[in-house]
Amino acid sequence: QGNKLWGGRFVGDTDPIMEKFNASVAYDQRMWDADIRGSKAYVRALEKARLVSTDEMDQILHGMDQISEEWSKGAFVIKPGDEDIHTANERRLKELVGAPAGKLHTGRSRNDQVVTDMRLWLRDAISTLAGNALQLISTMVERAACATSFIPGLVFPHHHAVALSRDVERLQEIKKRVNVLALGSGAIAGTPLNIDREFLRTELAFDAISLNSMDATGQRDFVAEFLFWASLCLTHLSKMAEDLMLYSTKEFSFITLSDAYSTGSSLMPQKKNADSLELIRSKAGRVFGRCAGFMMTLKGLPSTYNKDLQEDKEAMFDCYDTINAVLQVSTGVMSTLQINQSVMEAALSPDMLATDLAYYLVRKGMPFREAHGVSGKAVFMAESKNIPLNQLTLEDLTTLSPLFGGDVASVWDYRSSVEQYSAPGGTAKNSVTAQVEHLRVWLKKQ
Ligand code: ARG
Repeated sequence: QGNKLWGGRFVGDTDPIMEKFNASVAYDQRMWDADIRGSKAYVRALEKARLVSTDEMDQILHGMDQISEEWSKGAFVIKPGDEDIHTANERRLKELVGAPAGKLHTGRSRNDQVVTDMRLWLRDAISTLAGNALQLISTMVERAACATSFIPGLVFPHHHAVALSRDVERLQEIKKRVNVLALGSGAIAGTPLNIDREFLRTELAFDAISLNSMDATGQRDFVAEFLFWASLCLTHLSKMAEDLMLYSTKEFSFITLSDAYSTGSSLMPQKKNADSLELIRSKAGRVFGRCAGFMMTLKGLPSTYNKDLQEDKEAMFDCYDTINAVLQVSTGVMSTLQINQSVMEAALSPDMLATDLAYYLVRKGMPFREAHGVSGKAVFMAESKNIPLNQLTLEDLTTLSPLFGGDVASVWDYRSSVEQYSAPGGTAKNSVTAQVEHLRVWLKKQ
């Protein structure tokens, strides 16, 4: 164990299967940049505390820059014994700068280092996700704005955008709790070495300093919150995908999915599969599984760092990759799908106006419960006569209520039906325009 960072108290070797079981470098190497940024800030704090000389600091900073270049060129070589990204970078630093490398970890633990890396990484990831979510919302809003007619169903994209706008707000809320400095918490008890944590905070552009070292190293609620966020956002997107899928079936044909987001069948030549939408729908299950799995890992853990917490990274990366892809594919689907307005108009049927028929009677003074019953009887009568609801004659209708008059004909106009729903939040053109405008203003503020 002599070559290990923690080898001093060991005499026996690690079993190779245990070595592999314990290692996280295969996946945590994607935090290489955050790890280097953290170390560079930390060595500056060590120099401020006179724990390394200015010359040693410069050597370490230079070494870290070299390591950074190796990672970005894909030239960094992971060696056997590199347990995680933290040990790999420090091992390489020693190869490059020699003795001063041994001072970098003074007063630091991988327990505060790993949380620092994850918080730096997730902070950037959140910015990317927010940007891609906003792109999707804006695409949906502009498609709704361009819709020439406001027949329900035609405006379908924008109500999903309303839910997504709350997801973006929730994400920004999470960012506040992610963007907290953990470095300087040591393994469990903080640091006795005069490390200026306020200096570290400004160096790494964190908003706040963690309040308690045991909490900072042993809690992962910032990860769990992100996993839940991704799960919730994907339930919204899977609902949207399901709506679009139904509308894109041959039977509905309300929309046509672009070739760019469809695939074919290897057997049935005529088929165009909505694979983009089916995959978007599926990802909610995958991500929620990650969230639930990690919550199970957290449940009942004792305080402070336990290796169980290493499970946080694959969950975080996988949820990020998944939702990031979903957001981008959704934007592509939304911006390219064709809306078949005439098919939607042809699908309108007079029985959809039965509620409006009841409202007609309400306007003539009938209590709603009674009007609902009369309208229901009209539906039954039309069905018995095997005719559409709007083909009932005035004589037919007056057998149900004397309040029906010639003006009932106005009920059968779909466009004016939609226009009646003019209260805020409704389907009338003015109301939808106001909703679109609200989202446009909201987008500008993000
Ligand atoms: N690779 C570890 C992780 O991801 C780093 C922390 C190691 N700390 C420890 N006490 N073994 O969680």
